[in-house]
Amino acid sequence: MTDLPAEPHERRILGTELLWAFGVGILVSATLSVIVFTALSMNINPPSNVERIDPKTLHLSGEFAEHNLGTTVGADGRITVRAIATQFMFVPQCIAVPQGRPVTLRFATPDVVHGLLITGTNVNTMVVPGFVSQVHTDFARTGDLLMPCHEYCGLGHSEMWATVQVMPESEFKPGPDGRVSCAKR
Ligand code: CUA
Repeated sequence: MTDLPAEPHERRILGTELLWAFGVGILVSATLSVIVFTALSMNINPPSNVERIDPKTLHLSGEFAEHNLGTTVGADGRITVRAIATQFMFVPQCIAVPQGRPVTLRFATPDVVHGLLITGTNVNTMVVPGFVSQVHTDFARTGDLLMPCHEYCGLGHSEMWATVQVMPESEFKPGPDGRVSCAKR
């Protein structure tokens, strides 16, 4: 038992509580400001696209059929990358993109939850069965970037990664069908 009279004792408890509340308040506002700051200045946001796709049939026809995977330059000049995340690889294994132009990346999976990031960029998303994950970005520097799976998806998870080949504008030449593949090096 304490010898303190009741009132100063309670005042001390109140003081400690206020101190903790103040500390937690600072931490929460610091965290929120970092989230808002990176979202506004570096385009680092949680993906907001909600678009459904049937994981059982996505590889058979339509957008994510095998012949349609990889990089495509549309008639309007828009660049779209489509890739499948599957146990335990990305298809295609290498993704060609130009330096300094807006690129839309679209991913889907036929099996389990995967995730991916592209090193040094704002690309970081989950790939959930039943949904298309879409991310917009542009690539500041040329060179090869690593795109690993970052969501544990089974025994081969650590072997699951692809390469993003960022080409100078002059080398990024779509074929007659608008498609661009990685240069063999
Ligand atoms: Cu796919 Cu981990």
